[in-house]
Amino acid sequence: APDDPGRPAGRAGTAYPVPHERPRRLRGTAALRRLVAQTRLDPADLVLPVFVRDGIDAPQPVSSMPGVLQHTPDSLVAAAREAVDLGVGGLMVFGVPREGDKDGRGSCGLRPDGVLNAALRRLRDELGDETVLMSDLCLDEFTDHGHCGVLAADGSGRVDNDATLEVYAEMAVAQARAGAHVVGPSGMMDGQVRVVRQALDDAGHQDVAVLAYTAKYASAAYGPFREAVASTLRGDRKTYQQDPANRTESLRELRLDLEEGADLVMVKPALPYLDVLADVAAVADVPVAAYQVSGEYAMIEAAAAQGWVDRDRMVLETLTSIRRAGAQVVLTYYATHVARLLGGPR
Ligand code: PBG
Repeated sequence: APDDPGRPAGRAGTAYPVPHERPRRLRGTAALRRLVAQTRLDPADLVLPVFVRDGIDAPQPVSSMPGVLQHTPDSLVAAAREAVDLGVGGLMVFGVPREGDKDGRGSCGLRPDGVLNAALRRLRDELGDETVLMSDLCLDEFTDHGHCGVLAADGSGRVDNDATLEVYAEMAVAQARAGAHVVGPSGMMDGQVRVVRQALDDAGHQDVAVLAYTAKYASAAYGPFREAVASTLRGDRKTYQQDPANRTESLRELRLDLEEGADLVMVKPALPYLDVLADVAAVADVPVAAYQVSGEYAMIEAAAAQGWVDRDRMVLETLTSIRRAGAQVVLTYYATHVARLLGGPR
């Protein structure tokens, strides 16, 4: 009751109690908010995913990802240089081969002169150790069926786990030779981290790190990426990527990847999986990354284009949320944009 003697006195003229605590005090000015902010964005924590496409003589826009380009080798170098000069922490490179170069085994991903390996070599030549060059280690960009691995010989259409591992091993070595500092096996084959680690070590690439796609869910949010890498998928990826319904399974994937030698672990997509990200970050003893994927980018762009949300605020808020949930490193198509928003290297 308002006249309860145990309660603080009400504001003069009202019967209601005044608050015991006033959290708003720390929100009163921009300077106060900045001082007590627990999570900060720094371009050095961001990695820019980039696409390089064979057989084009000018950069091509990706219509489902406004602002994102399929690069020529020259425009790729320029974009990389711009990102690095703005303080972006690294690049994740995806190759887009000519349609006619695709086959069942993704062979053009293995060739030293294939589009991805040639681009890695060129970037390493131009940028040296000034940035961290990461390469997507997966077959979907290079196979004619669009799956992340080779298909079983029995014609069932299933991806053959262990046959795929052999190709990943070869691909890892090709990417390391081409100049990748970090390879990112993203196909969700069981045992992929161990095989890649061993292949790299056997070839003398002990210093090339493995970024494991540890928790990678079978997500609708990879839709725009299909266009970006000009890949048409027969079927779906549900027999190797994780079911969105599952949470603890990611801790199992984490345990395996750490046992197998992962140097960094990643959760993907990011925003719809912040619970998983927080779980992984709570126990991982290696740096944790998260990937704000193509569909997350496209959703922000689509809503912003309609004037329904403020693009820059959405970008900063989503990236802050991903960092707050526990990601130390964030892969985002907004990396260069954010670096510019934040005012370059600090
Ligand atoms: C596999 C790979 C994919 C993405 C990154 N690596 C596609 C997939 O797993 O289906 C998606 C990234 C994005 O959507 O931005 N090569």
